Amino acid sequence: MNPVTWLFFAVSVAAAREYSDEELASFPKLFHLDEYKRCLARTDGLYCLGTFELTPAVVPHPTYNIMKAYSEESYRHFNRTLIHRGYCLSLRCPLELITSYNATVLFERCADHYSQRSHLRASLHTLHYCRTHDDFVTRKPETPAEHMLKLVLYALVLANIVGTIYDSYVVDTPERKKSKLIAAFSIPANWRRLTFIREGGDPRQTALTPMEGVRVLALGCTTFAHASIFHYGFYTTNPEMLEKVTQRADGIFLSNGTSLIQAFMMMSCFLTGYNLLIYSQKRELGLYLLPLCIIKRVVRITPVHMLIVGYGATWWMYSRDGPLVSTTIGLESAACKTKFWSHFFFINNIVDPGNYCVAPTWFLPVNMHMYIVACTFTLLLWRRRRFAFRLYILLFIASCFMTAAISYVREYKALTYLATPEEIRRTFRDDPSFTEFYISSWGALPACFVGLIFAHLLFELDQRKIKLCDYKCFVYLYHTCFPLLFLWPLTGIYARAHQSAFFIAAYTAFDRPIYCILMVISLLGLFHVDGPLRWFFSWDGWRSLGRMSLTVMLLHWCINITIGARSMAFSTSELDVIVDWSATHVLTYAAAVPITVLVEFPMQKFLEALIF
Ligand SMILES: *[C@@H]1O[C@H](CO)[C@@H](O)[C@H](O)[C@H]1NC(C)=O
Ligand SMILES: *[C@@H]1O[C@H](CO)[C@@H](O)[C@H](O)[C@H]1NC(C)=O
Repeated sequence: MNPVTWLFFAVSVAAAREYSDEELASFPKLFHLDEYKRCLARTDGLYCLGTFELTPAVVPHPTYNIMKAYSEESYRHFNRTLIHRGYCLSLRCPLELITSYNATVLFERCADHYSQRSHLRASLHTLHYCRTHDDFVTRKPETPAEHMLKLVLYALVLANIVGTIYDSYVVDTPERKKSKLIAAFSIPANWRRLTFIREGGDPRQTALTPMEGVRVLALGCTTFAHASIFHYGFYTTNPEMLEKVTQRADGIFLSNGTSLIQAFMMMSCFLTGYNLLIYSQKRELGLYLLPLCIIKRVVRITPVHMLIVGYGATWWMYSRDGPLVSTTIGLESAACKTKFWSHFFFINNIVDPGNYCVAPTWFLPVNMHMYIVACTFTLLLWRRRRFAFRLYILLFIASCFMTAAISYVREYKALTYLATPEEIRRTFRDDPSFTEFYISSWGALPACFVGLIFAHLLFELDQRKIKLCDYKCFVYLYHTCFPLLFLWPLTGIYARAHQSAFFIAAYTAFDRPIYCILMVISLLGLFHVDGPLRWFFSWDGWRSLGRMSLTVMLLHWCINITIGARSMAFSTSELDVIVDWSATHVLTYAAAVPITVLVEFPMQKFLEALIF
């Protein structure tokens, strides 16, 4: 970034009016929650949650005018003319309770009553719910879905017990082989698969070990970004702090660092292409193998995916009790119920994309679609690697320009432009840039082609026995690109200062592919250049953690919301985000061990034994 741009940016920021703490303190609280359990524990308890629109009760109203001006800067401020309230009406406004018993009307009157103290009128904008003591104490009967999930879990536990006993006591004899179907559920065998670090094997695959470290740490960054956005989604007592973060370098880093997810896609397509190319030296490949490849993939992903979506549709709701549960967990849980089958068929990012069930599941269909693309191309072109390499470069460039053109026409924006407080609060729901572009499958095409190019490149280097560490210029390139992986997201600072439609489209289209290319160079360096970085990323522990990645990627979302859904408005800070993130990580990995050992690995072996 050149000094002139810095200056321009500094001036444009300075031009925006800064608000004093006193002014901020004169605004009505943005969020408020009364005690929930205490309220509904009383037999006459009535609790309502909703959003109100404020208007001035007297004109002129200087504070209201400031609030309005403040809200108009929506790129960095919450809408302060909307206030979010959870009121215990039975304790807060008992007098009105006697005169009318229509909860909605009562709620509005109550909020209005309190707003009049600051000479404002409050009218109901959205009512989330009103709950009485009876709603609170009556337990809902078990739904068929919950019953199903319970049976599935019983069956899994039983299968694991039987499988373990069978595998330990039945001995393989030449006449009678052990049943693979039952032995698939052996806990010790699956535990070994999780923890055992295999030595030897194909040296080309062993050389990829540093990638495991990269993936595990990148997943950690993703969960950190999620832990931060949850603080926007719940009720906080100091939303000003969240507003500031969206403008700070670390906030821009987090929002723009989401390009990382495309690097995951790239690595997955790379592995697909690379492994198929290695395999092609042993066996002829052909398109007829495609169904086999797809089945193998589905068998690996679907059991855990469906288990977590099933959990999302049922018991997730009961993982916490509090006023915000039904508007956060409840919203996604309802989506899990209605979209269950779209998850099964890997189309949940296409069907009703704005309504997400366990949001990170969007990654799975995109990844599957890209997997099919990568497999198809490799199975067709594995003989003509030179031609394929050139074709992929062409397709990569074409897909980037296609993305730019579509972004220009449909006005899609990179996530860093969308990261405004109100948008993050709604997790980008109903923003076309997110639902139609960010989580779309076609948006990942450039990453997929980068992955395929990378696969061919590495394969060719192996074939010609070229070690890149012998090339000084590559070593320099690698040592430049690796830190750039961490600096690249900061280009969002520059990007945000430029709002022309052309620039936004170009940035949206090229930001993620450039990140993928930086990742390719860094990975090549890690594979080929010895040094502390390579040792660090090749640590054996990463490999065991990496084997739980699928579960962790999906489950951390559920666990993080459950942790975040506190029953009172809380004060937030960087430290609180780190605390939530750490707790999420510990609990997620703790839960991922049994899920991986008792469900993912055995189900994969079981289904493979059944099908093949
Ligand atoms: C804030 O919310 C109110 C009520 O929905 C709306 O009329 C207004 O346009 C919003 N302000 C901004 C800046 O979006
Ligand atoms: C309460 O009153 C509002 C507005 O008059 C009406 O729309 C709503 O249906 C009423 N609710 C009940 C439970 O009677």
